[in-house]
Amino acid sequence: MTAFNSPLVMAVETSCDETAVAILRGKHELLASEVASQIALHRPYGGVVPEVASRSHLTQLQPLISHALQAAGLQVEEIGAFAATTGPGLASSLMIGVSVSKGLSLSLHKPYLAVNHLEGHLLSPFFGRKAGIEPCVALVVSGGHTLLVEIAGVGEYRMLGHTKDDAAGEAFDKVGKLLQLPYPGGPEIDRLAREGDPARFDFPRSMMHTDDFNFSFSGLKTAVRYMLPKLQGEKMSDICASFQEAVVDVLVHKTIAAAKSVRTQRIAVSGGVSCNSRLREKFHAACERAGLELLVADPRLCTDNAAMIAYVAAERIALGQSSPLTTDIDPNLRLV
Ligand code: KG4
Ligand code: ZN
Repeated sequence: MTAFNSPLVMAVETSCDETAVAILRGKHELLASEVASQIALHRPYGGVVPEVASRSHLTQLQPLISHALQAAGLQVEEIGAFAATTGPGLASSLMIGVSVSKGLSLSLHKPYLAVNHLEGHLLSPFFGRKAGIEPCVALVVSGGHTLLVEIAGVGEYRMLGHTKDDAAGEAFDKVGKLLQLPYPGGPEIDRLAREGDPARFDFPRSMMHTDDFNFSFSGLKTAVRYMLPKLQGEKMSDICASFQEAVVDVLVHKTIAAAKSVRTQRIAVSGGVSCNSRLREKFHAACERAGLELLVADPRLCTDNAAMIAYVAAERIALGQSSPLTTDIDPNLRLV
């Protein structure tokens, strides 16, 4: 089932709390990208509840596939290959998308591609780029991961560093919870911080000057927790701006240091936290100063989506690759 001609890929993403379907022609012509967010379902619990997530994928996925096909003006028989996120993520959520995608592949006799969610984020800044994927240092900052990776080409990745405890997005969400902001905290803190003074409080920048490329954000979260009594009466916007500044400073500093260390000309930033307006602003300024090209994904491709999964599948198809239908899900799948 590996040889095929059609450049149309349908990808399904159900690794966590977004149900998503995308249809891509070739590598860059996005015909449909549908995302059904479950944020409202999980908000009362202050975080993602795995069983609520998988039950919602089960009911959302089929209508979403129909919408995507309708938006693309296609019949399912015209799709040339089916892809799904196979990990990392919540096992019961991954299984829904993988089962549906494998079922379509099997019944329509089309190739199947198992895609790593992290590779989806990693390559998303290159989506739509004429020159395609070129060597760079890539920062992936999401709710579950904070990784610094050297990219040499598709599938050629070297891990430079990662978080030792909380991911950057997790720190945003946990601090959001401490500050009694709605879930998820990241976008709320970003919004409130726009009116705040980032220098009002001096929160710790853990591991900023260590000579490796690892991160640690749990100390920062604890620092906010211990300061809470003192923060009574302070402006929420100042607290958010100061916390956000500490996260952003470390991410930008370490990524630029990694780029200098491996002598690359280019930085790619992806994952949900790369939506953050201050992170984008400071990366733009730092890359300009350092003479580096900066690639940041379109905000719609930063948080979880299926277009990034379809893009990885398209790159793999171009290399003549596909996956056996026996490929299992892997909740702890690593990038390298
Ligand atoms: O990539 P993503 O959708 O899911 C994972 O793979 O984890 O990332 C979600 C994370 C959440 O922690 C959310 O709070 C964070 O991205 N996030 C943000 C912003 N938008 C989303 N963090 C800071 N500022 C934002 N604007
Ligand atoms: Zn993600």
